[in-house]
Amino acid sequence: MRISIFGVGYVGAVSSACLASLGHAVVAVDVSADKVAMVNAGRSPIVEESIDELIAEAVAGGRLRATTDVAEAIAATEVSFISVGTPSAADGSVSMAAVHAVLVAIGQALATKGAGHAVVMRSTVPPGTAEDLAIPTLERESGLNHGIGFRYYSNPEFLREGSSVKDFHAPPFTLIGAADGDDAAVVRDIYASVTAAVHVAPYRVSESTKYLSNVFHAVKLAFANEAGAILSAHGVDARAAFRLFCEDRVLNISTAYLRPGFAFGGSCLPKDIRSFLSLAAEKDVPAPFLRQVLPGNQAIIDRAFEMATAHGRQKVALFGLAFKAGTDDLRESPFVMLAERLIGRGYDLRIHDRHVQTARLTGSNRAFIEREIPHLERLLAGDVATALDGAGLAIIGHVAAEDRGALFAALAGKRVLDLGGIPGLAAVPGITYEGFCW
Ligand SMILES: NC(=O)c1ccc[n+]([C@@H]2O[C@H](COP(=O)([O-])OP(=O)(O)OC[C@H]3O[C@@H](n4cnc5c(N)ncnc54)[C@H](O)[C@@H]3O)[C@@H](O)[C@H]2O)c1
Repeated sequence: MRISIFGVGYVGAVSSACLASLGHAVVAVDVSADKVAMVNAGRSPIVEESIDELIAEAVAGGRLRATTDVAEAIAATEVSFISVGTPSAADGSVSMAAVHAVLVAIGQALATKGAGHAVVMRSTVPPGTAEDLAIPTLERESGLNHGIGFRYYSNPEFLREGSSVKDFHAPPFTLIGAADGDDAAVVRDIYASVTAAVHVAPYRVSESTKYLSNVFHAVKLAFANEAGAILSAHGVDARAAFRLFCEDRVLNISTAYLRPGFAFGGSCLPKDIRSFLSLAAEKDVPAPFLRQVLPGNQAIIDRAFEMATAHGRQKVALFGLAFKAGTDDLRESPFVMLAERLIGRGYDLRIHDRHVQTARLTGSNRAFIEREIPHLERLLAGDVATALDGAGLAIIGHVAAEDRGALFAALAGKRVLDLGGIPGLAAVPGITYEGFCW
């Protein structure tokens, strides 16, 4: 395929060299005449393992050249990759100046070239870029319509500097953001010889996945470094502890706990975070990252409260009170905290949780509830219908499988706030549905 690559920095240089090595004819485009001259001389503008040889071979073989001339590059190619920088602006937001400039330049070149080009965003850009910036800019500047005159794709890059050539050939997956109904065949074909799963997703999901990946990597590093400092202050070999920690592929290095939703609680996580933080305090080890975990969790409960009360005062039915489904454990349950806030604000609340019956609560569970919601007995409804009687809003935290049918059948006419991502709930007829973060 004939491909132009805009921005010959770390990503663009690697993409140019690697795509040329796969047999594509590549034109690298940059505003820097120095970088263009280096590439045309067969030299790499960046330091990276094996990139010098790849660029030298590709240029010598006639599969790679560079230019500062956008119109010429667009006319000579069928697909354009954008890999210009997206640095932080002074306020921490991302600067889209280079992306915008390159979109304008490509759009204007397409106005002359006419229909049939594909534009692929390789730079890391915030969700919404495709629909709110890239496609409108290309349409305005080219006078062409997206989907007819040109096609636009998001295709985030997952390479790591230092091993980027290897990463290019063995990425975690190939991710393509595309318009509804577009199978992205043109982008798939470019990577035909790269053996990695290909996922085609809506633009915003594709753009977000790149952000999630880098934010998660940073979160993992911050966690490991801070926990390591706390453990070593107590004489523990933190690397040995982390090696074993990583052996758990069921709960630790796994997809467990990675479904966005409502707050966590229960008798273990909050208690053990507090205990770990006290270990840090004991040895004066700063732990600003881990100290934010419980306040962050509280902010999720606050958000549910704001969503529940955003539509005015009405009678509320809460389904699920134990900290998660399938238990009667109320200790540090976020649903208890949400209930408390609603009661505190004077909301008329009824609660249904098949596994929670005050008569059966004992020990620390009973002590917790007597402290938090002493009048729980009065609020608990024995069945779904009683809980929903007169309610305008139903908040669904979790619901036992046995109660699901009765609940779905009785919800018509109600506003529903789904905190649990209950399967099938969004499709219940006659309700005004709101998902917590989906
Ligand atoms: N560096 C990485 O490891 C990495 C990995 C994955 C994703 N990314 C993302 O890829 C993007 C590029 O990162 P990078 O590190 O390669 O950036 P970089 O700063 O090394 O390179 C950007 C290049 O774009 C050129 N440029 C700027 N405006 C231009 C224009 N209008 N037309 C043509 N060229 C122009 C610059 O001269 C420069 O050569 C960023 O969004 C980054 O977040 C980077």
